[in-house]
Amino acid sequence: MTDLTQLLADLLRRFASDADAAGSAHALESVRIAYLGRNGEVTKVRRTIGTLPPAERPDAGKAINDAVAAMESRLEAAQAALESSAVDAELATSIDVTFPPIAPQVGSIHPVRRIIEESCDYFMRHGFAVVVGPEAEPDYYNFDALNIPSDHPARESFDSFWLTDGVLLRPHTSPMQIRTMQQHRPPIAIVAPGKCFRRDAVDARHLFQFHQVEGLLVADDIHFGHLKGMLTGLCRELFGPEQRVRFRPSYFPFTEPSAEVDTTCPKCRGDASGARCNLCGGSGWIELGGSGMVHPNVLREVGYDPDVYSGWAFGFGVERLGLPRYGVDDIRRFINSDPDFLAQLS
Ligand code: DAH
Repeated sequence: MTDLTQLLADLLRRFASDADAAGSAHALESVRIAYLGRNGEVTKVRRTIGTLPPAERPDAGKAINDAVAAMESRLEAAQAALESSAVDAELATSIDVTFPPIAPQVGSIHPVRRIIEESCDYFMRHGFAVVVGPEAEPDYYNFDALNIPSDHPARESFDSFWLTDGVLLRPHTSPMQIRTMQQHRPPIAIVAPGKCFRRDAVDARHLFQFHQVEGLLVADDIHFGHLKGMLTGLCRELFGPEQRVRFRPSYFPFTEPSAEVDTTCPKCRGDASGARCNLCGGSGWIELGGSGMVHPNVLREVGYDPDVYSGWAFGFGVERLGLPRYGVDDIRRFINSDPDFLAQLS
């Protein structure tokens, strides 16, 4: 065996053991550079060719090229082996196919929105149309047209967020009664859900921004019995048959007679005898909203003859409906964006 043959055989052996030891693509690349790189081992051997007698040089060149080819194919094989062992390692990590999947976070309709939908659905089944209107209203729609003249003390409770002189964020949805009646002739049967704004101090049953569902029915021969029947039906549908509802005489400038609608406090269940309940204030009842027979002055204002037409109207607080609807003990829960609370009600 010539010196060169011996040299190449040693080189191949060392190369093989280095390539086998390389445990990563990066290490394998270092081995390639060390042997086949521009200043690598093979280049050093090539430089010795010049020292050989010219007759031996072609064979020497061929022997070196053969060695290079052997190294390259071994590198390729080592590369492939590394890749497949990486895949094997990944497959070998045990996969528990019975493990519960990470469920995607699915959103749900907010409880306040759901009550609006359920209430509208109830009235739509009875032939009512749903209308929506502006959240900023001129005082004409908010007050004057609703039989609340500018010097009337009833303005006080609604006198809240003025945007400019004469335009305020509506404190109730009742302006929609006027807007609808001005555009249509009787018979009228509408519900108008939407946001309202009032300067109420926030507590377990008050928010300064909340929702109402307004309702209005005007036709011939409409009487208070229709009002009681429809509103009792709504409460029964939302709360179930066990929840008690009462109509309590009250006063609103735009209705006569007027009644507030109350339901048993969902927190103390009407047991006002014990400690003061912070939800109902100890009365045992929660007010849902106001209602009554549309005042003749309101009908006149929109050009309806009160001797021909009569009607009833109501305005319920949606978050208030949510208390017995979901058995919730504090109205602020509806606006706290607590995912656990919302998930429970979804
Ligand atoms: N708008 C009244 C309020 O927010 C509630 C109300 C009372 C609405 C009587 C009505 C009604 O439509 O007839 O306090």
